[in-house]
Amino acid sequence: MKRRSILFVCLGNICRSPTAEAVFRAKAQRAGLASRLVIDSAGTGSWHVGNPPDWRASAHAAKRGYDLSSLRARQIVREDFARFDRIFAMDHANLADLERLRQGAGAGHLGLFLDLVPRLRGRDVPDPYDGGEDGFEKVLDLVEEASAALVTQLAQDDG
Ligand code: 4NP
Repeated sequence: MKRRSILFVCLGNICRSPTAEAVFRAKAQRAGLASRLVIDSAGTGSWHVGNPPDWRASAHAAKRGYDLSSLRARQIVREDFARFDRIFAMDHANLADLERLRQGAGAGHLGLFLDLVPRLRGRDVPDPYDGGEDGFEKVLDLVEEASAALVTQLAQDDG
């Protein structure tokens, strides 16, 4: 497998995309792929820059064995489109914002994270920020499934 760089993007970079970063990193490590991957996450918005993940996202992830404690929010920058060869948006609004920002920069893949799972094609990872605890569990369920699909795809991809 070639070296690959993968960026997960949501709105605030404190709930969904840091969860995706940590879950995917754990699965890639377990599959022995992590040394050839650069894995990061970012938000389209700037409100939470420098902050750790939302404590609810961290707590729910920790119950499944994922550690979000070292992560800090950052906002996407145009250079990210050149730096990362695969950029995965958590929902359609994030994707629309990214397409607007990209405008000719970068030639990598930009798409919805859940498009990696045929059954979930076209679906959003729902924003859990203003909802209840079950929203964070749902994020983990979806992110675990899409991350497993991405690991499988990368393991088969040696081009
Ligand atoms: P995220 O969730 O995009 O999954 O990190 C959100 C975090 C913060 C806000 C919205 C969504 N906010 O409006 O501050």
